[in-house]
Amino acid sequence: MLLLARVLCLLAVSANVLAYDSSFVQLIDDAIAVLFPPVRVSAYLCRLDQDETIRLSRLMSRSGLAHEIRAEVRTDRDLWDHRALHVLDLDCDHAVPLLRAANASGMFSAPTRWLLLRDGTIGGNVTDETVVERTFRDMAVYPDSEVTVASSGLEVEDGSIAWRITSVYRPGPFRELLTENRGTWTAGRGVRAVDLRPTSRRRRDLGRTTLKSCLVMTDPDTINHLTDYENKHIDPITKVNYPWVLHIANRMNATIEFRVTDSWGYRDRNGTWNGMTGMLQRREIDIGGTGTFFIPQRIGVVDYVQLYSRSRACFIFRQPLLSTVSNIFMLPFQRSVWTAIGVFLLLVLALLFVSAKWEYRRGMSAHSAEYWQQFHQSEQTFSDNFMVVLGAIAQQGYSYEPYRVPSRIVTLMLLIAALNLYASYTANIVALLQSTTDSIKTPADLLHSPLKLGAQDVVYSRHYFKNFQDPVRRALVDEKIEPKGHNGSWMTVEEGVRRVRNELFAFHAERGAFYKIVQETYLEEEKCGIMEIDVLNMLDPLLVMQTRSPYSEIVKNAALTVSETGLQTREDSRLYTKKPECHGRTSFVRIGLTECYFALVAVGYGALLSLVVLAAEFLWCRVEGSMFGRGLTTPRSEIDPVDHEIEIENGSA
Ligand SMILES: *[C@@H]1O[C@H](CO)[C@@H](O)[C@H](O)[C@H]1NC(C)=O
Ligand SMILES: *[C@@H]1O[C@H](CO)[C@@H](O)[C@H](O)[C@H]1NC(C)=O
Ligand SMILES: *[C@@H]1O[C@H](CO)[C@@H](O)[C@H](O)[C@H]1NC(C)=O
Ligand SMILES: *[C@@H]1O[C@H](CO)[C@@H](O)[C@H](O)[C@H]1NC(C)=O
Ligand SMILES: *[C@@H]1O[C@H](CO)[C@@H](O)[C@H](O)[C@H]1NC(C)=O
Repeated sequence: MLLLARVLCLLAVSANVLAYDSSFVQLIDDAIAVLFPPVRVSAYLCRLDQDETIRLSRLMSRSGLAHEIRAEVRTDRDLWDHRALHVLDLDCDHAVPLLRAANASGMFSAPTRWLLLRDGTIGGNVTDETVVERTFRDMAVYPDSEVTVASSGLEVEDGSIAWRITSVYRPGPFRELLTENRGTWTAGRGVRAVDLRPTSRRRRDLGRTTLKSCLVMTDPDTINHLTDYENKHIDPITKVNYPWVLHIANRMNATIEFRVTDSWGYRDRNGTWNGMTGMLQRREIDIGGTGTFFIPQRIGVVDYVQLYSRSRACFIFRQPLLSTVSNIFMLPFQRSVWTAIGVFLLLVLALLFVSAKWEYRRGMSAHSAEYWQQFHQSEQTFSDNFMVVLGAIAQQGYSYEPYRVPSRIVTLMLLIAALNLYASYTANIVALLQSTTDSIKTPADLLHSPLKLGAQDVVYSRHYFKNFQDPVRRALVDEKIEPKGHNGSWMTVEEGVRRVRNELFAFHAERGAFYKIVQETYLEEEKCGIMEIDVLNMLDPLLVMQTRSPYSEIVKNAALTVSETGLQTREDSRLYTKKPECHGRTSFVRIGLTECYFALVAVGYGALLSLVVLAAEFLWCRVEGSMFGRGLTTPRSEIDPVDHEIEIENGSA
């Protein structure tokens, strides 16, 4: 019984012309060596019992092939496994159902490879490719697929049977099956390949297959100005990418159909994508016609093509004057110099006190008293000395006249020092008043600066601003752009550029658009000191296409060509205005009230202090008057003028 089964089985094997022998293994090995990169073989064969499977497996192992032999295709395997080569005997009964199953689970798209083997001579007839053609006529074997068919017995070269190797693919879903000749295989000489270029190069000509694409336009009028370089500040990214997509389609010999949408596409709350990204995800279009930001949420939803547009949005503003962001009245001297001046003045005050006292005592002596009394009626008090120092340092003058050498030395020293300090202070202040500050460099500086903020009203800015997570940028939006849901900070580029020119204002806009209007409207000196701060922190936008698109490799190749041949730079430089160059500042700067803010504050506080002193004096008079009676107030009148003097000095400090 067992013997009978064995015999039957042998008969069955011998009826199958495609023998799984060493020549079969040699064919696979040679094909892998020439046509495929290193791979792991999954062989789907039939009419094999266990012994023969083991024998075949041993043969394959001897040739160094990593392999598995099975009867059914496993559809749960990793579709991205780039080492998988599926070898199938087309003469098996289950071959066609197995191919259908593989088709249904998308196993014909890259990077999976197929090697189909068949006996080309059944019953002496050359059956040609009709079987293969019938099978693959409506399968998803698009240009990225690698379906290679090897048929035996077609040619006889010097007595040996040659195998013919072909590949089949369809340029698009509505196109006929095409057959490529890949070469021949003979047992002795191995594979003779016709064309060793990679698939994406060989199948570049799609024969006018229609691809679908989509353009994003925030302004409907853009459709009329896609190629005429009009209104470059409106939708520049659409206008830059449109010719690129046409170049790419041209290189693939494809025609392209455009749809129009108003959004790049973001995820809704229920998880669906809208706009262009949604169309790509739903496979309504093949390639996105307008560059898109590379963000983590979109990875896996769309595939990115390395063709960047130099379009970047950031906060743009003119460097503010130094005096508007800090107290320039403190800036001429460093902190240590201020301290030194303070110490010096205290020292002078002390010396003056001592020398004036000494002068008074010496002056009281009889022989010089008369001369001395021409100048001085009374002894110098400490507050008199203070007024002398204050008068000298504030360049105001005073009534004290030293007549002895020590006090003259002290006052001379004071006056010369005050003169020098005054000269350097005023010189510095003049320079500082005209200088701008570059202290605003980060989003945090922007947040704490006196600059008002605004943003160009485009869909992507609104989306990303709403989704900022980190505290600084969140605060930028919540406190400066949309305080309490206020909507006025979203505006057109034209208005933003005008406000940057006239106010302390930073505007978030697409750089090319902003600079185009700057070039047209700003005076030469107003183009100086323009600063940028990036808060979006994104790469430049790049083209997108469907995930696992059959045209992915071909499009990526074409995109490389577009950038290597300079077509990318051409559109970039024609549509994006560069940051204007600064050709020298003019010599004068307008100073307004904001610049003198701290001086006004000082005057205000001085006036307030003088009122307080006045009130205190008034109170003091009343209290003393009531305590000592009327008669005692007369001697104090000596001091009164001095107190008044303090009051006045404070008022003008
Ligand atoms: C062989 O070819 C003949 C004529 O072309 C055809 O009638 C016959 O069916 C073919 N045999 C096979 C097995 O295909
Ligand atoms: C192959 O798959 C594609 C898409 O998955 C489908 O449209 C087509 O009908 C399938 N072909 C066959 C023969 O099942
Ligand atoms: C593009 O495809 C058409 C149709 O297949 C063909 O006639 C034409 O020669 C192709 N053009 C190029 C440049 O290959
Ligand atoms: C998801 O939300 C959008 C609008 O926000 C709506 O158009 C769409 O139908 C929703 N999809 C589902 C599956 O609920
Ligand atoms: C702000 O303006 C946008 C578009 O103009 C509008 O959709 C939104 O409702 C407005 N928000 C408020 C708070 O007015």
